Amino acid sequence: MSHGEQFSLFDDSHSQPTPTDFQPDLIPTDAQVPIPRGTYSGMEPLAQHCNQCQRCELSNSRTQAVVGRGNLEADIMIIGEAPGQNEDETGLPFVGKAGQLLDKILASVQLDVEQDIYICNITKCRPPGNRKPTTKEIEACKPYLLEQIRLVNPQIILFTGGTAFQGVTGEKRGITKVRGEWIEWQGRLSMAILHPAYLLRNPSREKGSPKWLMWQDIQKVRNKLDEIRSERA
Ligand code: URA
Repeated sequence: MSHGEQFSLFDDSHSQPTPTDFQPDLIPTDAQVPIPRGTYSGMEPLAQHCNQCQRCELSNSRTQAVVGRGNLEADIMIIGEAPGQNEDETGLPFVGKAGQLLDKILASVQLDVEQDIYICNITKCRPPGNRKPTTKEIEACKPYLLEQIRLVNPQIILFTGGTAFQGVTGEKRGITKVRGEWIEWQGRLSMAILHPAYLLRNPSREKGSPKWLMWQDIQKVRNKLDEIRSERA
């Protein structure tokens, strides 16, 4: 077995080398054109491509791509479903009512979006009428998400809601089954949590209610982050 083959058994970053004749400006025109790992040197060129991207039909109706907000070196990355109207207009993820609630939830355990969090979505463009993104759209956009994860290099990934979780991981189990459970995805510690929009529709705070479950999960995340940071110190 050659050295190259041995490498590819242990580290998938070697299995998709960036071609030497790679032309980044040609990438986003079609979902068939691959976006290999390591394509982007930073979030800015990635955002530029997202704004030129025509890998799926969502490009026809977007005002602008919604790439992310928060700390580009955050310990926690939150991955939501797709931009809504407010996000499409501002270019920032989670700025509507659900986003405001998410910020409050994070603040309740002293997590600061500017410092501790990078937040983005599985699709960068708004699906018309706020419908769920299709599997094809999620797959077309996935290389951007994988590049964002590589660039931010978070210790913890949180998926908000079943669409984000199942869409990206391919898991079949529903959100109510998996939420609050640590899993490994892409070699990273990950957890699915409920979507804040779901909490807005279910205001009860009683034991077992969605809000109560979220409170349990976010405390678990806070504790794990403290553990990781104290090991790193
Ligand atoms: N806003 C976002 O950016 N993503 C969601 O999943 C919901 C609201």
